[in-house]
Amino acid sequence: MIHPILRMGDPRLLRVARPIERFGSDELHSLVADLFDTMHDAHGAGLAAPQIGVDRRIVIFGFSPTDQRYPDADPVPRTVLVNPTIEPLDDAEADGWEGCLSVPGMRGVVPRSERVRYRGFDQYGVPIDRVATGFHARIVQHEVDHLDGILYPMRIRDFSNFGFTEELFPGEEMVDD
Ligand code: NI
Repeated sequence: MIHPILRMGDPRLLRVARPIERFGSDELHSLVADLFDTMHDAHGAGLAAPQIGVDRRIVIFGFSPTDQRYPDADPVPRTVLVNPTIEPLDDAEADGWEGCLSVPGMRGVVPRSERVRYRGFDQYGVPIDRVATGFHARIVQHEVDHLDGILYPMRIRDFSNFGFTEELFPGEEMVDD
């Protein structure tokens, strides 16, 4: 089922979401299906449960170049990540453009850790433990931030690189994430 996506300003996006306690439940499977339906409908590359008003620590992300429009980005595996943790592998940071389905029509340059290790579980409780770099690392950090009530504009350091997508990238078709 496709849900409406909450937009920045809605206080539900600022909550610290609660952990998922039971894996493999019908409720969890239906939440995962709803997240994917909603993300695909909005042409996003990632979505966190709080963005559809669900106060739980679960995010989904992933895309391939064939079904999305990130010409310069490597594909990111389709992932369901429950109760995630992230740690940077070193001090290296990179600046990159981000958008968000909860901040429609806008883009901003956000500093993120270049290399991270992230851990969590899929919806069946199977552990996930990965090292990610570049755009993959960026997406995971963006999505997990949603679980702690952080939206990407709150991470921007230089607001001269923040604005409406149509003004920043005239003539380009861009999707939000
Ligand atoms: Ni977002």
